[in-house]
Amino acid sequence: MEELQQVKDQIKTFVKECNDEKSLVLLDKLATGKMLRSKLVLKIAGVTEQSVKLCAVIEMIHAASLLHDDVIDEADTRRGQPSVNALYDNKTSIMFGDILYSKAFTELTSMPHEIAHTVSSAVTLLSIGEMLDVDLTDSFNSSYEKYNDMIYKKTASLIEASAKSAAILAGLPKENYALYGKNLGLAFQMIDDILDITQDSDTLGKPAMLDFVEGKVTIPYLLLHERLEDKSKLESLYKKELSNEESSWIKEMMKETNALADSIKLAKDLGNEAIEAVKDEKDSETLIFIMKAMIEREF
Ligand code: IPE
Ligand code: IPE
Ligand code: MG
Ligand code: MG
Ligand code: MG
Repeated sequence: MEELQQVKDQIKTFVKECNDEKSLVLLDKLATGKMLRSKLVLKIAGVTEQSVKLCAVIEMIHAASLLHDDVIDEADTRRGQPSVNALYDNKTSIMFGDILYSKAFTELTSMPHEIAHTVSSAVTLLSIGEMLDVDLTDSFNSSYEKYNDMIYKKTASLIEASAKSAAILAGLPKENYALYGKNLGLAFQMIDDILDITQDSDTLGKPAMLDFVEGKVTIPYLLLHERLEDKSKLESLYKKELSNEESSWIKEMMKETNALADSIKLAKDLGNEAIEAVKDEKDSETLIFIMKAMIEREF
């Protein structure tokens, strides 16, 4: 898509403005992601110089969060390539993340105040969400409430801010779009958590079956845990490197207990709630399309 290329060019321009050769080299090491947040902004606000800049800022923030996330999760692949922490080291990944975050904030200062506030506040939430995610790995979390609060902060907040700021740019009812983005974002993280279990690393472009090893009790594990009469085997596998047999057992049990199917259903319900918020808007058809494609995605 031509307009996504414009976003990528804008990111490169922003990084060039940092006047640092190494940052440009590192930018080159980041493969392109799905650009969901940009697609959302461009659908809502149309393609203008302002909206393309907003997309670039949001993609830089998102990339920074992933640079830090791969250090936190000790992940060695990202977008089908070695992650920066694997290619260089944790220090490089953290520092380049900081460069992208701070350049994005600098650019936000030239945007309408409400947009700057919306996006930068979401980054605070995202960071708190990442911290909660890690804190929840201290011991087996069986609280849905804690899981929902954490995924809202770490993932949905930035998608909510993307939809809301695009609506502000376009003069559309921002609260409706914010609610759409929030529910879309919650569903998005649930699908990400499901794909960790159902897909292989090659398809995902990032490690598969890593969440539980890292101590993350995501939605399918929450449901499975609740439904298993004898919970001891699942609990014994928590935060352990899994053998093929143990991975297969988890997946089998998730099928048998419908934990997977019901997780997908929960994500779909959130997707439908997202649509409810914008059903009377002019671009509701495309927003429905984005939601459906997001639920049905394979990576
Ligand atoms: C990955 O986000 C992190 C989550 C919020 C689940 P994306 O799945 O949007 O990552 P890319 O940008 O497409 O690689
Ligand atoms: C989302 O969580 C990360 C951020 C919001 C930064 P994950 O840890 O599940 O993301 P992936 O699976 O590594 O992309
Ligand atoms: Mg991760
Ligand atoms: Mg993580
Ligand atoms: Mg994940």
